Amino acid sequence: MKIAIGADHAGYRLKDVIVPFLQSQGHEIIDMGCSCADSVDYPDYSVPVCEAVVRGEAERGILICGTGIGMSIAANKVAGIRCALVHDLFSAKATREHNDTNVLAMGERVIGPGVAEEIVRIWLDTPFSQGERHVGRINKVKALESQAAGTR
Ligand code: RB5
Repeated sequence: MKIAIGADHAGYRLKDVIVPFLQSQGHEIIDMGCSCADSVDYPDYSVPVCEAVVRGEAERGILICGTGIGMSIAANKVAGIRCALVHDLFSAKATREHNDTNVLAMGERVIGPGVAEEIVRIWLDTPFSQGERHVGRINKVKALESQAAGTR
């Protein structure tokens, strides 16, 4: 799978663990930075990853900041993105089955690299359930996006 990944200064160390992990699993990675501890702003890294997913340049996106919260908030402002902030294995599976999320956010200050690798593996491997009720709910979320676009 082609995966875009981005992090801020509080997440790049975990990104540097996740990138080789994904490559070892055969995935192709577009690393969109950042790559050092100099302070940056998470929207500047979240949005380019999400736009790569929306444009179809990557199938999925992964975002890492200190908590994952800022990255996920910014990601969910991008039309076409359903981003889940995940720090446990149950949610990693459930958000793929129920929400068909295309972007995953995690916090380097919240979980360790072992849990993060397992979350990423499960999130990438779990298909959307295609369940009728889940499709209906996702369509309601998509309708909110169109509504928001109409008010801009
Ligand atoms: C950076 O200090 C931190 O605020 C950021 O990485 C993130 O956790 C924000 O949600």
